[in-house]
Amino acid sequence: MATLVKAERLVKEFRVKSAILSPKKIVHAVDDVSFEIAEGEVLGLAGESGSGKSTTGRLLLRLIEPTSGRVEYRGTDVTAFGSEELRRLRQKIQIVFQDPVSSLSPRMSVGQAIGHPLEIHRLGAKESRKETVLSIMEKVGLSPAEYIYRKYPHQLSGGQSQRVVLARALVTRPDFVVADEPIAMADVSVRALILRLMQDLKAEFGLTYLFITHDLATAKYLCDRVAIMYLGRIVELASRDELFSKPHHPYAKALLAAVPIPDPRVRKPKNLPTGEIPSAIDPPGGCHFHPRCPHAMKVCSEGRPPLREVAPGHVSACYLD
Ligand SMILES: Nc1ncnc2c1ncn2[C@@H]1O[C@H](COP(=O)(O)OP(=O)(O)O)[C@@H](O)[C@H]1O
Ligand SMILES: [Mg+2]
Repeated sequence: MATLVKAERLVKEFRVKSAILSPKKIVHAVDDVSFEIAEGEVLGLAGESGSGKSTTGRLLLRLIEPTSGRVEYRGTDVTAFGSEELRRLRQKIQIVFQDPVSSLSPRMSVGQAIGHPLEIHRLGAKESRKETVLSIMEKVGLSPAEYIYRKYPHQLSGGQSQRVVLARALVTRPDFVVADEPIAMADVSVRALILRLMQDLKAEFGLTYLFITHDLATAKYLCDRVAIMYLGRIVELASRDELFSKPHHPYAKALLAAVPIPDPRVRKPKNLPTGEIPSAIDPPGGCHFHPRCPHAMKVCSEGRPPLREVAPGHVSACYLD
């Protein structure tokens, strides 16, 4: 399959002031991240909070500018795109955020919210827009569409709100969707429904996803390949089956061991290293994970372990065999 999106050595640093009078500090939110996403693929980006997943997603969509590195879309470098080129690109690449309530304006009806991107991108004739909106509403399971069209966000259930957000992202017929923890805020009862819907929509519209999650169980359900991030770096990337059956990096192993097991009689191993995830302001030298790693060796605190192939298509940034 052809490569749709390519991240090449992306770096994003934020300058923050941690205390009055103290000099500004640098947050290494994304630290030299590269990957490719093939057309039609779902790449998962997993890791604990603060590991740089959302920042990576925003960089791909050029919602923020990289400190260095570049993003390619269908082989074209979009890093230098001007505003008109970006506007056109944004029809084709969309984002779905985790909190549907805060991503919907309380003053816009469902119909207005979903139709809004059509207006911004001046897509279709004005008269045909309502039809387009109603049709996408049916596709995401908002029915009866005519009835929900006139509703306002406060009148919707959590599941319906997330469907509106999905409809709004899909109404411009994008190729690529960054889904940033799309079910994290949803009730447990609607999570599986939304995941299944995302899978159906992918098939129907031929979508490619970057699926961001802190929860590996959902990555297992939806993703073809999974990248594990830790403090701004990808530490492991493999096909889903390979990652779940043969994780290599101690951090990936720890995360997998922490995935809740539905059967309460099975005791879950408790080897997720305890302690706060260190800060991206002053990350530990060498392998960022070494202070929490049960196998840390001297070399692990010295240099950044490179991502190396441990099996075909399976890379890990760990020196262990
Ligand atoms: N606009 C910002 N200004 C300063 N720091 C930020 C900003 N956005 C994110 N960060 C920091 O960058 C790091 C990565 O954040 P983020 O990408 O949101 O991680 P994740 O999505 O994996 O939880 C965190 O330490 C976060 O506090
Ligand atoms: Mg995030």
